[in-house]
Amino acid sequence: MITIQGLTKSFGSKMITRGLDLSVEPHEFLAIIGRSGEGKSVLLKQLIGLIKPDAGSVKLNGEDITKLRGKKRQAIFRTCGYVFQFAALLDSLNVLENIGLPLIEDGKNPEDIKPLVVEKLQSVGLAPDVLLKYPDELSGGMKKRVGLARTLMLSPQVLFYDEPTTGLDPITVRLIHELIKKTHDEQKATTIVVSHDVEIFKFATHVAMLHEGKIIYKGLAKDIWDCTNPYVHQFIRGLPEGPITQIGFV
Ligand SMILES: Nc1ncnc2c1ncn2[C@@H]1O[C@H](COP(=O)(O)OP(=O)(O)OP(=O)(O)O)[C@@H](O)[C@H]1O
Ligand SMILES: [Mg+2]
Repeated sequence: MITIQGLTKSFGSKMITRGLDLSVEPHEFLAIIGRSGEGKSVLLKQLIGLIKPDAGSVKLNGEDITKLRGKKRQAIFRTCGYVFQFAALLDSLNVLENIGLPLIEDGKNPEDIKPLVVEKLQSVGLAPDVLLKYPDELSGGMKKRVGLARTLMLSPQVLFYDEPTTGLDPITVRLIHELIKKTHDEQKATTIVVSHDVEIFKFATHVAMLHEGKIIYKGLAKDIWDCTNPYVHQFIRGLPEGPITQIGFV
């Protein structure tokens, strides 16, 4: 269970998160939508402890992660996986080392973890022949899969994805979404995906919309196309900007 209350974050005089509240039930698959620059990545980073909020709480199974320090903090973040907006692979490491990084950091030898890395690679639909390739030699879709495989190394219970399909072709988008859903089901995880891609609604259980630093709407994904919230209506149909009252509901 994730409970966010009064989350607030400014950069200088610019307030990005403005007293945001949101609850996510265990095993929920939540898609977060919102305009570019609204603060979706900043929100996810606050949930995972990469950005410290100015105020508010983020409770993960009752524990306020914004207050945790040291070993307790490390332990709770090991149960979470985060797939970055731009895959965030380390260019100087090959695929084996990138995926194995969480265990290599724990002192494991890359050769010893190879079978597990191959297993995770296969679970994201990549063949073992990419093991010794470097990020520069991979396509965008392959990089996203490698980023996902790295996250899966620790079998996380809560998975956060930031724009996992941006810049990919429609077929790869579908494959990545299916992979996220498969991982969600197999791990019995709680999944939060930030996405611009309306195809995610076919896989998510819930949709939440971020607007002006707050979650202004949350509802079931299966009902999203009938949503009467004017901001959601406009956003998911890609309608041009303009006074919200001018939207003609269809
Ligand atoms: N570390 C930072 N320091 C200062 N400003 C930041 C920082 N990170 C983000 N911002 C600002 O916060 C705002 C929200 O950024 P964020 O990356 O969260 O947007 P987003 O909704 O994820 O957009 P996109 O859909 O384009 O990824 C932007 O104005 C951005 O410039
Ligand atoms: Mg972003």
